[in-house]
Amino acid sequence: MCEIKIEKAQQLKQKPDFSKLGFGKYFTDHMFIADYSDDKGWYNARIVPFGYIPIHPASTVLHYGAEIFEGMKAYKTADGYQMFRPRENIKRMNDSAARLCLPSIDEDLFLNGLTTLINLDYNWIPDSEGTSLYIRPFMFGNDESLGVHAVHNATFVIILSPVGSYYATGLSPVKIIIEEQDVRAVRGGTGYAKCGGNYAASLRAGKRAADKGFSQVLWLDGVERKYIEEVGAMNVMFKIDGKIITPELTGSVLPGVTRKSCIEILKDWGYDVEERLLSVEELTIAAKENRLEEAWGTGTAAVVSPIGHLFYDNQDYTVSNNQIGELTQRLYDELTGIQWGKREDKRNWVYKVKVK
Ligand code: COI
Repeated sequence: MCEIKIEKAQQLKQKPDFSKLGFGKYFTDHMFIADYSDDKGWYNARIVPFGYIPIHPASTVLHYGAEIFEGMKAYKTADGYQMFRPRENIKRMNDSAARLCLPSIDEDLFLNGLTTLINLDYNWIPDSEGTSLYIRPFMFGNDESLGVHAVHNATFVIILSPVGSYYATGLSPVKIIIEEQDVRAVRGGTGYAKCGGNYAASLRAGKRAADKGFSQVLWLDGVERKYIEEVGAMNVMFKIDGKIITPELTGSVLPGVTRKSCIEILKDWGYDVEERLLSVEELTIAAKENRLEEAWGTGTAAVVSPIGHLFYDNQDYTVSNNQIGELTQRLYDELTGIQWGKREDKRNWVYKVKVK
């Protein structure tokens, strides 16, 4: 593992009001950076004052989109902080790296860089209800040439942002429109990787939905435009006839850490969880027949986000009377309870770090 050099900021920034954080608007005083080249491996691991990153105008990321990222959170505890299943994110980042021909990152370098950074910016972890320190690790191809080929030089960065709720409205049901034109990803493509390109491809549909008054779109598969894949930037789950159905990981769906955790919790609670193809027809028939009991998105940022309306083919389907469903609320309480250290961590998901 390479040694981490630390250059402390000369002047610390003024912290925002932790009761009005929103999502991803403020950044801490420092950031972690490491460079990679084929001949040196990972080198020059350092923590520097948060700021701009100089980049060569021919850098691979600017032209060919060689970029991957992760989303994680740290929660303040009495003697330090805790994170939720960080090794799952590191593993997924390396799966994303393999798909985009970026180098894999060593778990020790990642965790050591991350905890050294958080320890330094510890006072930025908010402690009011519903807040956390959002962690955004990302990696980009940084060859200084325009040839299209696998990456030989890369940069890995971690930045930190104190956050409140992802949606301005907090945990309240959102209106979703089923997207029939654009697709987010295709099998064999990069859907299972957490890469910037997937999000870029989603922006047009997201904007169209917002212009019509919807919060997000429900994505259909790119081959048949028939099967449900994700909701906005989240995985999606439905409670139909008492059973939980969530799209299976076909290759175009992101293997969410929150998705995986929800499935484990739901199974422990005795629910049948089916990971399978779910067609929009099956879903809308269930909605028409009042068998669609609840629907929610799962992701790191929002954790669990209830769906109150589904719009498809000029029809508006109300889900759960546009209220937070009982199971949706129970899942949110359980997951956030474990994450914030208020509920028992039976499955050893929490990674604790002592600072004091
Ligand atoms: C998540 O919540 O898991 C996300 O990926 C959302 C992020 C892109 C803001």
